[in-house]
Amino acid sequence: LPKARLAPSILSADFTRLGEEVTNVLKAGADWIHFDVMDNHFVPNLTFGPMICEAIRPITDATIDVHLMVEPVDALVPMFAKAGANVITFHPEASRHVHRTLALIRDHGCKAGLVFNPATPLSWMDHVMDQLDIILLMSVNPGFGGQSFIESTLAKLTDARQRIDRHLDAGGQPIALEVDGGVKVDNIGRIRAAGADTFVAGSAIFGKPDYVAIIAQMRQAIAN
Ligand code: DX5
Ligand code: ZN
Repeated sequence: LPKARLAPSILSADFTRLGEEVTNVLKAGADWIHFDVMDNHFVPNLTFGPMICEAIRPITDATIDVHLMVEPVDALVPMFAKAGANVITFHPEASRHVHRTLALIRDHGCKAGLVFNPATPLSWMDHVMDQLDIILLMSVNPGFGGQSFIESTLAKLTDARQRIDRHLDAGGQPIALEVDGGVKVDNIGRIRAAGADTFVAGSAIFGKPDYVAIIAQMRQAIAN
């Protein structure tokens, strides 16, 4: 399995001091910063747009991992790329032309990926494997932080890991396998064992008194 990466989601950060929060989780050992972009159309919630990415970009060179829970998708791709996004993932149900949207993300210099909701079959990736740099599996239904991990995601993770390994064995490019939703210290070990290499966590990290301690506990749970 590729080296484990922690990607705290700013959805649960203290927005009165967002820059400080981002700096602190990265100093505490986080690898990526996960941006949960919601448009109150694809999901029943509304968060933030490219301007927040633009605001955070100058304070870190860490990977900014943009999760677009929006429909339509395409118009936001160049905007987030210009705002400094490094990774852009979207839900295939939200794009009329998935192959074209993936190409658009890469054409703008970002890593591209698809996000699979709990009920979205992995077969959506079958005809675009060469266009993927990352796959994101939702272990909750998107829209809110603080939900409970959906256990059936573990089997889906193993299936996704096998698909990626087959792709690699056939000489394909590396594809990261990220999981998002309800990731905690007490389940991250099982999620790693099922095949994930990148872990989004919002409420498990932000709001905790000591970021160094919680990130160390997560890494310890992954290593076990
Ligand atoms: C759902 C969001 C959340 C968030 C993580 O749309 O994508 O999954 O990133 O939230 P927690 O870690 O609090 O479940
Ligand atoms: Zn997310």
